[in-house]
Amino acid sequence: TSTQLPNLKRGDYSSLTDADVQHFERLLGAGGVLRDETDIAPYNTDWMSWYRGRSRCVLLPRTVEEVSAVMKHCFDRRLAVVPQSGNTGLVGASVPVFDEIVVSMRRLNKRFDFDPIPGILQCDAGLVLEELDTRLGEFGYMMPLDLGAKGSCLIGGNVATGAGGVRLLRYGSLHAHVLALEVVLPDKDGTVLECGPALRKDNTGFHESHLFIGSEGQLGLITQVAMTAVPKPNSVQVAMLGCDSFLDCCKVLGDAKRLLGEILSSFEMMDSETMRCLKENHGRHNVLSTPAAFNLLIETSGSSQEHDQAKLNKFLESCLEKGLAVDGVLATSVEQANTFWALRENATLALMDDGYVFKHDISLPLKHYYRLTEAVRERVGSLAKRVITYGHVGDGNTHLNVTASEFSQELYDRLYPFVYEWTTQHGGSISAEHGVGLLKKRYMPLGKSPAHLAQYGRLKRFYDPRLILNPYKMLTM
Ligand code: FAD
Ligand code: MLT
Ligand code: ZN
Repeated sequence: TSTQLPNLKRGDYSSLTDADVQHFERLLGAGGVLRDETDIAPYNTDWMSWYRGRSRCVLLPRTVEEVSAVMKHCFDRRLAVVPQSGNTGLVGASVPVFDEIVVSMRRLNKRFDFDPIPGILQCDAGLVLEELDTRLGEFGYMMPLDLGAKGSCLIGGNVATGAGGVRLLRYGSLHAHVLALEVVLPDKDGTVLECGPALRKDNTGFHESHLFIGSEGQLGLITQVAMTAVPKPNSVQVAMLGCDSFLDCCKVLGDAKRLLGEILSSFEMMDSETMRCLKENHGRHNVLSTPAAFNLLIETSGSSQEHDQAKLNKFLESCLEKGLAVDGVLATSVEQANTFWALRENATLALMDDGYVFKHDISLPLKHYYRLTEAVRERVGSLAKRVITYGHVGDGNTHLNVTASEFSQELYDRLYPFVYEWTTQHGGSISAEHGVGLLKKRYMPLGKSPAHLAQYGRLKRFYDPRLILNPYKMLTM
């Protein structure tokens, strides 16, 4: 479907036989093995419809023992495997390239244990992020992680991606929350590895679970997650501010950190192109009446509504008085706050209506943050339908998206390697939170020393000696 696919040759793996299928059916029962082309199709295609694999078999284990037995067999037979959770990843890491077997974690979703005093959650990797959030709500807690795909992504997929999202500014990354993981290795025994006890403090040995955060299904299959949840705030306030320049956005961020302090929980940006796209493609209107080049969605989470509202109001007034913002509005109800958030959360979907999307997920020092968009806009000219940027400004994470009615090689050649070289030359990272997958595999060497890459290769072989796990992605072996 897409020529964003690097030049790849099928690896020296075995091909699936009837005997393999029968073996899997014995292990998982008939409902645990999908073979019908129509049933398999959604597992072969990524969320962006950039890639289409040719897998002929999807396995749906329900227990860690089943995952272990599957991996033992795949190791024995040298069958390549793609671990898949919600398949909402945005770098083509969760779908097969050739005929790899898909091991879907969807049915591994029974265990949910929560201890509300220390706030520690232990659960199966196949639970949906939003469902976890809802269930924790009954205890007065919530997940520290929140992102637009929460209704479909699974916690194991979030951990394997090292996903960031819109609350990272306040609660930190998954590295701050994951305490322990249960992982099945792709080795001769299908070894089940317990990485750490579910304790806040444990300083014995290497902290191996961190290696699996963001490992993109390269090292093992995550089957259980132990992590900290965070108390659900009593008061959540949301504001939208319009700024005329990106420099003003940065000054507003500085003030937000100073004036809102510990209650600041999100600081998101949508440029005017994003707003135009939301309106034209989705009929969603900006909540600000004054058009501005940049729209900031600011959220606070705290314990006292009166106190938080007063703080946010004062902050808003100060931004308007100083001339940093040209317009500002505070949501006065939960419904209104949801409308504000719906703009930001629907940006990803709205731009897909343009046809084809070249998506980026880049970390940059703030002084260069929007300069990248300007440089790309100038470089692609009228070849692009739109050049749109939204993102987690509070974390220095920009989502620059370039759209066209269909894939264009000319546009592709204008964009790459320019975007990624520009990013590394300006002290950025080519993947802030989505990972590398297939999309950025060929740019992986940018910003990484050969010594680093060699070390990654040694680690990969250590955990996955037959290189059967998620081949062709992230690492060049
Ligand atoms: P998948 O897409 O199925 O898998 C992702 C990767 O993990 C693949 O490499 C896969 O092989 C591997 N994997 C999956 N499960 C396991 C497992 N159990 N063990 C080992 N490896 C595994 N990301 C952000 O960081 N921040 C955002 O704000 C954000 N917003 C998004 C909004 C939308 C609308 C969409 C569609 C995506 C968004 N994403 C965002 C991308 C994001 O990374 C995913 O939504 C999510 O984290 C992936 O989880 P998943 O369950 O869909 O995993
Ligand atoms: C977001 O922040 O909206 C997501 O990472 C998805 C995207 O980049 O479109
Ligand atoms: Zn994001």
